[in-house]
Amino acid sequence: MKRIGVLTSGGDAPGMNATVRAVVRSALQNNMSVVGFKRGYNGVLMRSSVQTDDFTMLTARSVSDKIHRGGTFLMTARCLEFKERQYQEQAVKNLKLLGVEGLVCIGGDGTFHGANALRELGYPVIGVPGTIDNDLDYTEVTIGFDTALNTACDCVNKIRETSDSHERASIITVMGRNCGDIAVSTALACGAEICIIPEKPWTIEEIADQVRWGVLRGKRSMIMVFAEGAVNSLKSNVAEICASHESLSDISPRHLSSSQIAMMIEALSGHETRATVLGYTQRGGSPTAADRILASRLGAYAVHLLRDDQYGLAVGMRKGELIADPIETAMHGRTAANEELLSLITELS
Ligand code: F6P
Repeated sequence: MKRIGVLTSGGDAPGMNATVRAVVRSALQNNMSVVGFKRGYNGVLMRSSVQTDDFTMLTARSVSDKIHRGGTFLMTARCLEFKERQYQEQAVKNLKLLGVEGLVCIGGDGTFHGANALRELGYPVIGVPGTIDNDLDYTEVTIGFDTALNTACDCVNKIRETSDSHERASIITVMGRNCGDIAVSTALACGAEICIIPEKPWTIEEIADQVRWGVLRGKRSMIMVFAEGAVNSLKSNVAEICASHESLSDISPRHLSSSQIAMMIEALSGHETRATVLGYTQRGGSPTAADRILASRLGAYAVHLLRDDQYGLAVGMRKGELIADPIETAMHGRTAANEELLSLITELS
């Protein structure tokens, strides 16, 4: 291949810039030029009035001073039209028009679905896992996860201090969509008492019991790390709980917020409980050294595969080794919880 393209798509993740840098520098070393597409697949569809708004040639200097920066300088977006065949075909036409012979797609499962659609049309793609969620089953780790985890830990440590001073319980919501990995690792790393994740059914009643029990054991604070998707694995009859407590009468069981979950835990445990949503803080910030190294390895590996005419693959890590799996299987999300870490959280709390 003489020219390849690169894009970042879906939710941004710390380390995306480091990945693009690795792709560009490795491609140039291997005598390939690189086109950077902006705003994910939107750039490939080339619908802006000004061409430079959709894509740009990337040089070694375009990626200077980027390895340590959060966000993505190529920008990112979710492109809903890209689910339709006509847009996918348009993308292949545009790529060929620009002489781009292969595309490196950096992102999560949505990005991989887009890349797989291009593969089905016979276009050479490589997927690189860039998402804080760590929710792709084929790889042990995704770019951005470690940074998000460290950010979450930093916040939980702070919340622990104030919770301790006030002798409160705290429920802290972390990101991860339908995957509990950020929550489980944060909980273990921060010595949280409780971890609630989408992969495991749970009830308000049992959490309230655990809070009561922790207080009886003399704990000054009770930290509960709550994965955002865990609202879907709640098995309590919320209407019934709310009907039996005056303070919960305003809660609508259909759209539960974490403050409302905190209110219910407080009502049932009798222990003051507060909620904090960490939100987008987890997606920003300078990538950790681990994420920069991962990004550099995976980005360069993606280029090596394209150079060697191997494509339709997603790169990742298993047992510390680089791997490349067919992208059509790599786009599947993880559904199983990490039982070992979960039981360690309980054992050590
Ligand atoms: O997939 C990354 C992620 O940050 C998820 O953890 C979260 O559920 C989602 O993206 C938020 O997406 P958006 O940027 O569209 O609000």
